[in-house]
Amino acid sequence: MVLLRGTLSPPGDKSMTHRALIFASLVKGRVDIEGALLSGDTRASALALRKLGLSMTVEQKERGADIAIVSPGILEIRRNFAACADSRGGGAAPDCLFDCGNSGTTMRLLAGLCAGLAGGTFVFDGDASLRRRDMKRILAPLSDLGAGYRYLGAEGFAPFELRGERLNGGDFNLTVSSAQVVTALILAGLSADSPLRVSTPYVVRDHTLRALRFMGADISVPRQDGAAHGGTALAVRPLDRDLMPCRFSIPGDISSCAFFLVAAAILPGSEVTLLNVGVNPGRTLVIDVLRRMGVEISYLNEREVCGEPVCDLFVQAPASLQATDVTAEEVPSGIDEIPALALAFAFASGRSTVSGAGELKQKESNRLKLLTDNLQGAGVAVEAYDDGFAVQGKGFLAGGGFWRTDLDHRLAMIGMVASLAAREPLKLEEKESCAVSYPQFESDLKSLLA
Ligand code: S3P
Repeated sequence: MVLLRGTLSPPGDKSMTHRALIFASLVKGRVDIEGALLSGDTRASALALRKLGLSMTVEQKERGADIAIVSPGILEIRRNFAACADSRGGGAAPDCLFDCGNSGTTMRLLAGLCAGLAGGTFVFDGDASLRRRDMKRILAPLSDLGAGYRYLGAEGFAPFELRGERLNGGDFNLTVSSAQVVTALILAGLSADSPLRVSTPYVVRDHTLRALRFMGADISVPRQDGAAHGGTALAVRPLDRDLMPCRFSIPGDISSCAFFLVAAAILPGSEVTLLNVGVNPGRTLVIDVLRRMGVEISYLNEREVCGEPVCDLFVQAPASLQATDVTAEEVPSGIDEIPALALAFAFASGRSTVSGAGELKQKESNRLKLLTDNLQGAGVAVEAYDDGFAVQGKGFLAGGGFWRTDLDHRLAMIGMVASLAAREPLKLEEKESCAVSYPQFESDLKSLLA
């Protein structure tokens, strides 16, 4: 019988690597990023930054990359775009064409940064999957701040053209709990003429707050007036100086760890230690839910690194798994881990549910549809709803079916775990999309097979 045993250093955190790269544009001088994730998605951010005048050297180490990135500073980047517009008399030739590949984080964060580069015209595009993801959620608020945009294809989606302008600040109470939208607005707010505040209904990952504070920017958590507020709220003042050089150390990605946590939970006898994992409270739903299901997960060597909580995780397979419910309020802190949790639900006894997770349709694929179809195809009793699903766990996975990924990296990785744990292996559509966030996933998974 297959089980997992051993110790693994997971790859660097994707969200934090994107932020360390993109926030380096605010610094005059050098930013060192140790333990960075080098994957399809983070490469898209790095390439885009080169077009804004940043230069970088990358040294791939055994675990993660060391990146040294040098920026002219945000003041000079702003001046360059303003001068460029003056010299062409406000003409419309694009200054930068950004191919964001499969990366929604690259597209949304970079759009926030570029919105305040007055005089610049930027074209954003991506692959077929990214062209299907909602961009109105960033372009509408960025245009409220003063930026200009037009869609170059279908309304609401990439490709689009963004015109940097002098921005005003403002107050935004978002209806979607998205860390990407919050971060795009915060980046725009740093170039605005007056302060910007943004809030979400539910708590989202706060890497942006932690990283910008670590870099010395003036970002705060405003006091919420009136009715109780359960979400995230942030405020920034315009940045009228360059930030100082700094060194980021990127911990392992909890979203990548989720596959091993779930694999260890469903393969009896498993015991796995995951080293140096970021456990930002806006990302730990996978741990909370597995614990509720009866899985023992310990935090070892807890520490703080560059303002982020980090530890080693030790996980042990339980004797049995219980069903649980994931609520709308919890979803944003585990949105990327729900595919992995759905597999765990199939191995529990009883009915597990996920509600308020319509955002799953907005990811690299329609994860709600693919997940429920794939699990059904593997013999699981699943009910799909408009914003969630229910799984009637039987304690095992029959398997044998076809596992569609639509080139979605998280679907491919959880498909590999499902195939390993199923009574009959699954026929996976592809595995190559893992390269988007975890190029060495398959070999790491194999290295833990006992
Ligand atoms: C991310 C936030 C999440 C997540 C994505 C990365 C980030 O997206 O799904 O993989 O780095 O801020 P949303 O904020 O759009 O939910």
